[in-house]
Amino acid sequence: MKISIIGAGNVGSTTALRLAQEGVGDILLVDIVKGLAQGKALDLEDARPILKFNYSIEGTDDIVNIKGSDIIVITAGLARKPGMTREELLAKNAAILKEVCLKIKESCPGSIVIVVTNPLDLMTYFALKVTGFSPDKLFGMGVSLDAGRFANLIGKELNVPCTDIDACVIGPHGEGMLPLSAFSSIKGVSLNKFVDEAKCEELARKTVYRGAEIVSLLGSGSAYYAPSAAVAAIVKAIVKDEKRNIGVSAYLNGEYGIKDVCIGVPCRMGRNGIEGIIELALSEKERSTLHSSCVSLKQLLSQLPL
Ligand code: LAC
Repeated sequence: MKISIIGAGNVGSTTALRLAQEGVGDILLVDIVKGLAQGKALDLEDARPILKFNYSIEGTDDIVNIKGSDIIVITAGLARKPGMTREELLAKNAAILKEVCLKIKESCPGSIVIVVTNPLDLMTYFALKVTGFSPDKLFGMGVSLDAGRFANLIGKELNVPCTDIDACVIGPHGEGMLPLSAFSSIKGVSLNKFVDEAKCEELARKTVYRGAEIVSLLGSGSAYYAPSAAVAAIVKAIVKDEKRNIGVSAYLNGEYGIKDVCIGVPCRMGRNGIEGIIELALSEKERSTLHSSCVSLKQLLSQLPL
């Protein structure tokens, strides 16, 4: 497998490190900034004899080299600064993504593409339109990161190991995301059995603002350790044909009563990308919140240069 990661910033290079260490394929790190991807790739290569692990990694500033990729991860674009919403990145990141997607369309028409650039759901939709790829082969990483954050916060609140927690978040990777306590469980027992509604809401609110909390603490740049872990888990599910249920930003065509928008929902992930969209039995309130998020996303979609 050849896996190309476009954008050698913090998310891209940490994803490269994780994938190299997972041994899932040959990694190519790409960045338009001269020397950046090459420098990081050499550094990652030097770690091999120390780790005693002979993975393959290369860096390039020429996107033409993505030719022959089986999986492409797009992290290129600007990150949020303190006080910014993800949506404020729309125009600048759409311009960057357009260039990248046209190159992918030209040189890797059969690849699976994972969009990581923010605003995530809008960039995923935009990438689908620019490439014309099938929605099972192009999707975004978003709510699986949010589910990781939700699980971590639940674990800390209840003093249980986060590894015993199966957390579920759907919706946009933005302020409208829906951490779902009824579908989140600790060793099979619903979260609702451990905490009251007010506590669930507090944990959900913390999850929604976790990305912004990290941006404001870092001062410059946004989170990358958990985001890269979430990307690597999706890539691994594809390469190893795991058929795992992972939340991704998927193009909906009637599922959840929603059409023509990309939004986070649980999907069965395997060798062919999205192999099924899982429809959860949402409450009326959850369903209507999800639908209002789609209305907001569609309003923003009209600003995209399509
Ligand atoms: C975050 C950014 C990557 O949630 O969207 O940290």
